[in-house]
Amino acid sequence: MNTILESLYQRKSCRVFTDEPVSADLKQELILAAMQAPTAGNMHLYSIIDITDQTIKDQLAESCDHQAFIAKAPLVFVFCADYHRAWMGMKTFINQEARKPETGDMFLAMSDALICAQNMVVAAQGLGLGSCYIGDILENYEYHRDLLKLPEAVWPIGMLVLGYPTQHQLDRKKPKRFEPGFVVHSNHYASLSIEDHQAYIQDHLEEQPNSLNELNYYHDLYNRKYTADFTHEMNRSVKVMLESLSDK
Ligand SMILES: Cc1cc2nc3c(=O)[nH]c(=O)nc-3n(C[C@H](O)[C@H](O)[C@H](O)COP(=O)(O)O)c2cc1C
Repeated sequence: MNTILESLYQRKSCRVFTDEPVSADLKQELILAAMQAPTAGNMHLYSIIDITDQTIKDQLAESCDHQAFIAKAPLVFVFCADYHRAWMGMKTFINQEARKPETGDMFLAMSDALICAQNMVVAAQGLGLGSCYIGDILENYEYHRDLLKLPEAVWPIGMLVLGYPTQHQLDRKKPKRFEPGFVVHSNHYASLSIEDHQAYIQDHLEEQPNSLNELNYYHDLYNRKYTADFTHEMNRSVKVMLESLSDK
């Protein structure tokens, strides 16, 4: 297996870091590598906020579903979909009346931001650093907007915590992936039959002792994810982000 593929297979989320600081040079290398990611029309519709202030890390640890390990991470980056920079440039130099970014613009900028974040994850793995996404940055939009002083048309869409992994994290088994046959479709989308669902989940049961069968698996997913408080908050928060697009 070549080194890039090997690195992709070896990467797993890391949530506990050693006390070893990440040097400024390495951090810069990480950022530059992340920025090699493809970006729609080479427009760079994203911004990366490097959180170095411990107070802000502490606040993010709380606002992102009380995940204490965020506050202990040597590196914390918030990836924002950013149409502010391009929009302001067009308004300043081309047309003061340039329309406000709309939903499609926002989704394109979100793609840019997340693709950049994933480049950082891959780069981190290559540099011996561990990383973990924090999806809860989608929650509490108004709070994060104020905390990070985000202007109009900048939306926090992803967050990464990084650092040197502890031995325990290195030794931890990577969660198993589903079989590609259930995920990859040929030409047209094919919904899973009940039997497919059973086979789909069966493969995972060895790693999820609480999920004795597909009923338990989906019960768990329903209760712990789909109907959990954080999910309701995320949906509320994203609705506010979408409303920020309108001119009301
Ligand atoms: C969009 C996204 C959001 C995530 N949010 C969190 C999070 O808030 N907290 C956390 O501990 N892990 C989070 N993760 C990590 C996933 O739990 C992890 O990727 C998944 O369990 C698979 O494990 P692996 O990354 O070790 O292969 C997130 C991952 C993604 C892609």
